[in-house]
Amino acid sequence: MRVHSRNILVRLLYVSRAVGPQTTTVTTSILAQAHAHNPSQAITGVLCQGQGFFIQVIEGERSRVNALYGRICADNRHKDVEMLHYEEIHERRFGQWSMALVHLSVDDPMVKLQHPDFDPYSASGLQVMQQMLNLLESGQPIRMPVA
Ligand SMILES: Cc1cc2nc3c(=O)[nH]c(=O)nc-3n(C[C@H](O)[C@H](O)[C@H](O)COP(=O)(O)O)c2cc1C
Repeated sequence: MRVHSRNILVRLLYVSRAVGPQTTTVTTSILAQAHAHNPSQAITGVLCQGQGFFIQVIEGERSRVNALYGRICADNRHKDVEMLHYEEIHERRFGQWSMALVHLSVDDPMVKLQHPDFDPYSASGLQVMQQMLNLLESGQPIRMPVA
C-alpha cells in the first residue's frame, strides 16, 4: 500500500489561529522542527504567519503529508486548524523550500485585498493558494532551501 502512495504527490493548504502572541521564539521553534523533519520526508512548502494567523502549504507524498498534517493539527501552539484545499499534483510549486517563511503584515496585499474583513476562513482555498504564491514572489520570504 505504501509503495503505491509513494507515487502520489499532494498539496495541502490550511489556516489556523495562533494561541498567544506570534513571537519570534515560537516561529523559530516551529521552523526548526520543520527544517529538522521536512527534508528527510521530502516535504516542501511555505508557512505564512502574522495577524494572528498561520497559513501553510505542505507538499509531498500523500501519506507523509497526511501524517504531518495530523501532527500539526494536534499542536497546541495554534487552534481552529481548518483545511482550505487539498489536491493531487504532478509538480511541486514550493519544491525549493523545505519550509519557506513569509510574514503577513497589515501592509501586505493579501491583507489589503480583503481589508478590513481579512478572513482566510471565509476565503476560497484556491484564492488563498494564489495569494501565498504572490506573497512568496513579491515579499521577502525567509527561504529555507531543501538540504
Ligand atoms: C503552524 C505550524 C506549522 C508547523 N509546520 C511543521 C512542518 O512543516 N514540519 C514539521 O515537522 N513540523 C511542523 N510543525 C510542528 C508539528 O506540529 C510538531 O510539533 C512537530 O512535527 C513534532 O516534532 P517533534 O517530534 O520533534 O516534537 C508545525 C507546527 C505549527 C504550529
